[in-house]
Amino acid sequence: MRAAESRSPVLETTLGRLERGEALEWLSALAPGSVDLVVADPPYNLGRSEWDRFESQDAFVSWSREWIRAAQRALKPEGSAYVMGWSELLADVKAAVAREWAGCRWLVWFYRNKANLRDDWGRSHESILHLRNGPRATFNTDPVRIPYNAHTTRYPERSQAETSQYGGARPERWRPNPLGARPRDVIEVPLLANGTREKTAHPTQKPVQLIRKFVLASSREGDLVVDPFAGSGTTALVCETSGRRWLACELDARWCKVAADRIRDPGAFSGSQTDAAESALARRRGRLRADAGSPRKLETREAIP
Ligand SMILES: C[S@@+](CC[C@H](N)C(=O)[O-])C[C@H]1O[C@@H](n2cnc3c(N)ncnc32)[C@H](O)[C@@H]1O
Repeated sequence: MRAAESRSPVLETTLGRLERGEALEWLSALAPGSVDLVVADPPYNLGRSEWDRFESQDAFVSWSREWIRAAQRALKPEGSAYVMGWSELLADVKAAVAREWAGCRWLVWFYRNKANLRDDWGRSHESILHLRNGPRATFNTDPVRIPYNAHTTRYPERSQAETSQYGGARPERWRPNPLGARPRDVIEVPLLANGTREKTAHPTQKPVQLIRKFVLASSREGDLVVDPFAGSGTTALVCETSGRRWLACELDARWCKVAADRIRDPGAFSGSQTDAAESALARRRGRLRADAGSPRKLETREAIP
């Protein structure tokens, strides 16, 4: 299924280029040490689509090792790679590749809006490896700060205990950062629901809000970001709206067209619009959950994921 396609340009903007091609071949052609960040949402080996079938988990892991090595070769020393996947299967990929990197963090993408139709633990997360090429990998905290929890906002200023890790040379009174708390390794972003403005026909499209966190945290304006499995073009779209240069590759002509259409009109799907829509939805969900104690509200509660 991954027969080498000849590389062909699909779209070029002032910031980036989308090509139709095969990821391993395409990554291998990038100049060594030229890339700041790789954002990869590769096949998962779940058989979700023709591109998602491998002979075995072993075949999947050895193919993953090959393309991840090619990605690493293209990265600068302070570069890093985010690799998304289905946790149970991604664990084997991590075991095969992590020791070839200076560091590897396991991130969890947590979502609440997926129905559980079986008598089993409902699926509410996927995982992401954050592979760092060197000990000083780029990390920008401020653009990815998150809201403080309710306890912190209720007691915004307090003295540090003598035993606190912030004691000693640090000021005695701690105040919350006006930009928010430091980011956590569990990232809550809702799954894209059918019918939302951002959703395309791509079956495994990732939310702009999720990809934007990786791009903002691990690259700077003007940096080069690479996506070898572009799908509907989410990474390129994020780069277009955040001033990053980008290169993207996708095997399937259908998804190349979907991606090109999105990238040509980034304003229609910009992250801030998405964030605003998501915040409104989250507020509505929160209100409905709070009301759910009342039996009269039960019907509405069931209508919301
Ligand atoms: C999980 S999806 C990526 C979805 C994307 N993140 C988005 O938001 O739309 C993986 C994509 O990789 C493409 N693909 C699969 N194998 C490939 C390969 N060897 N080279 C390039 N693209 C490939 C598939 O066609 C599919 O669109």
